[in-house]
Amino acid sequence: MGNVITVRNLVNRFGDQLVHDRLSMDVRRDEILGVVGGSGSGKSVLMRSILGLQRPTSGTITVLGQKIRYHKPGPSRCWGVLFQGGALLSGLTVQENVELPIALHSDMPVETRHELASLKLLMTGLSLSVADKYPSELSGGMRKRVSLARALALEPRILFLDEPTAGLDPIAATEFDALITYLHDNLDLTIMMITHDVDSLFGVCNRVAVLVDGGIVIGSMDEILDSDHAWIKSYFGVPRAKRARHTAGVSYRG
Ligand SMILES: Nc1ncnc2c1ncn2[C@@H]1O[C@H](COP(=O)(O)OP(=O)(O)OP(=O)(O)O)[C@@H](O)[C@H]1O
Ligand SMILES: [Mg+2]
Repeated sequence: MGNVITVRNLVNRFGDQLVHDRLSMDVRRDEILGVVGGSGSGKSVLMRSILGLQRPTSGTITVLGQKIRYHKPGPSRCWGVLFQGGALLSGLTVQENVELPIALHSDMPVETRHELASLKLLMTGLSLSVADKYPSELSGGMRKRVSLARALALEPRILFLDEPTAGLDPIAATEFDALITYLHDNLDLTIMMITHDVDSLFGVCNRVAVLVDGGIVIGSMDEILDSDHAWIKSYFGVPRAKRARHTAGVSYRG
């Protein structure tokens, strides 16, 4: 099986605030790992540390066997990222947004770049009629799909998703979950997905990592639900989570 990401003894400290306290974890090849934790528990900082965007206080991170260094670019061609909020460029069209990483990281001719971007839009369930629109002209769900198309532009081996279903209505969120599952199954992707959406955790993820007390509890959904940790118990004990556990029984992929 093997690990595509290893994090060892990660420490992130901001002044007096200790966000990560010698946190260690692995992301296994081909899994969809869900990452949860309270607001401010360090989910985004963990992702940014792995992506080489934020230098940790200490610790070691490797991605696909390559150690992340913070003074030079990492193996960024190997991964795609859907940032919290989508982060599309508002002055560029949908087509231009998706083409941007291809233009930056390859010397592909314009025609090929164009076709590749169109293909990615289709893969995320969009019609090519959106290609010439600007992000502000799209619904939230469509913008998420465009961001996903852009994250897939360079055919990454690892996909990072920060809150992909935040702000979507339950139907759109369920459709987006199905899209993530479909892409995972068809593109040989390893996915690390930060989410507050308990339905997504049950429906999509193989394992779940919970950030608590500066450390991490990681396991199958069933193992996490059996945890004695007070915060984990209260997080998954709330009615919305219980409902998700009940209704997602069929689709849960543990
Ligand atoms: N560059 C920074 N300088 C100072 N403090 C920071 C910095 N980056 C993050 N923090 C702090 O680290 C903590 C963790 O932030 P992070 O963004 O990782 O939280 P999160 O778990 O992603 O929360 P949310 O669910 O709200 O997105 C927060 O308290 C934040 O204020
Ligand atoms: Mg965050």
